[in-house]
Amino acid sequence: GAVVSNVRCIGAGYVGGPTSAVMALKCPKVQFTVVDIDSKRIDAWNSDNLPVYEAGLDDIVRARRGVNLIFSTDIDNAILDADIIMIAINTPSMEKDDRLGAAADLRGIKQCIQRIAQVARHYKIIVERSTVPCRTGDIISNILRENCHPGVNFDVLSNPEFLSEGSAIRDLLYPDRVIIGGLDGTEGAQNVLRSIYSRWVPEERIVTMGLWSSELAKLASNAMLAQRVSSINSISAVCEAVGADITEVARGCGLDARIGSQFLQASVGFGGTCFHKDILSLIWLSESLGLRDVAEYWDQVLKMNESQMCRFVRRIMNEVEGSLEGTRIAVLGFAFKSGTGDARNTPATQICNQLLRQGANLFIYDPKVPDEQIRDNLAGELDSRESQLHICHNAYDAIAGSQIIAILTAWKEFQAIDWVKAHSQMIQPAYVFDGHRLLDGLSLERLGFHYASVGTPSKGGSKYPNHILE
Ligand code: NAI
Repeated sequence: GAVVSNVRCIGAGYVGGPTSAVMALKCPKVQFTVVDIDSKRIDAWNSDNLPVYEAGLDDIVRARRGVNLIFSTDIDNAILDADIIMIAINTPSMEKDDRLGAAADLRGIKQCIQRIAQVARHYKIIVERSTVPCRTGDIISNILRENCHPGVNFDVLSNPEFLSEGSAIRDLLYPDRVIIGGLDGTEGAQNVLRSIYSRWVPEERIVTMGLWSSELAKLASNAMLAQRVSSINSISAVCEAVGADITEVARGCGLDARIGSQFLQASVGFGGTCFHKDILSLIWLSESLGLRDVAEYWDQVLKMNESQMCRFVRRIMNEVEGSLEGTRIAVLGFAFKSGTGDARNTPATQICNQLLRQGANLFIYDPKVPDEQIRDNLAGELDSRESQLHICHNAYDAIAGSQIIAILTAWKEFQAIDWVKAHSQMIQPAYVFDGHRLLDGLSLERLGFHYASVGTPSKGGSKYPNHILE
């Protein structure tokens, strides 16, 4: 196969950093450079305090940095000698207008492709790693063709990233599949990219397909994963109302091999940067294509997610009876899921905002999310409520003196809390609202807690109407 010496990645974020690090680990003879316009981010990648927390990432970066892995702000130089350029720039949702959905913002990607065209002096493979709308490959090819130096050619491939935050390194080392999409005539380029992955990914897991299929497969995967969360959460609402248990129902469903048992946990809802914006992008795409029913179908997945967060807050209000004004609540977990310090678009933001609006005093603890991030997320609500927000650095500081505990991220360490001690330090009656079914409700009740979890009715609290039984 072709010899690849220089791989460049533009965008040093959650995708660009970890994927380049793992590639550098697995391809020691290839030089990897990760570039970004954000010099603070690059400085952080070059420091002992990486901008992304993922288990195992530190060790890999420490082993390869300065050897065959470089972090830099010199984008032009990185372009010049590149054989392959991966684009891992963020593609956030544009402002919503009156239509359903929202387009993905491709301005960063377009700018950077423009720069590649202007700087490049020889053939390169351009790889879409960002999640982009179907047919973005066309836009990229056109910009390259219109702006390149005469005689310089490019092949454009789609190679979407499927890693999950919280398990990024494991996902990168042992991916379920790697998709390499290309147009007719780009088989050579697809094989070059394949030769990189085949250093550690089994051949049968590296799948080639058309460019548009590959772009759409990423959007569709995220949409279906989010749909699964909304599906089980919708059933959790029925469980709470009717007196069934969501874990049992999920088990009963998941044993069907066609459904499968993974990713069927009820919770306060999904968050993070991807599910929401990728569904908005899919809805926008469907609307643009005149597929109204398709757009509405996926919009419902988002609506279900919103309603799950609202239901959680409403339940706290119902069960505590009386106003939350002045009530001290320990919020355990703020990240959008365990294993990551990422709190972008986390359900905790919406839930905390609603609780602040009810006048509650929040004592928030998360093992990984930085204080400033929590403050930033809640800034909108804080104008006149600054005194209601307290950020703690361990669970007990948050719990002592509180009346309510709300579990908003499924961090394992919350299972190891000394609940006897916790109970003795709380205002009575003490409540635990478990947004992730993380704790053993029975033993908490034995200790005297009032325990309520998503997808199970509270003790004596199931008030289902009789007429459904007639
Ligand atoms: P991020 O926001 O963490 O990082 C993106 C980086 O690109 C930033 O550091 C930003 O400064 C840089 N950037 C923006 N415009 C630039 C330009 N013109 N030139 C150079 N650098 C520029 O984003 P993240 O999370 O890494 O996502 C990147 C893409 O990957 C998105 O499309 C996302 O949907 C997709 N993705 C993200 C996953 C995740 O778990 N975060 C998983 C799979 C895909």
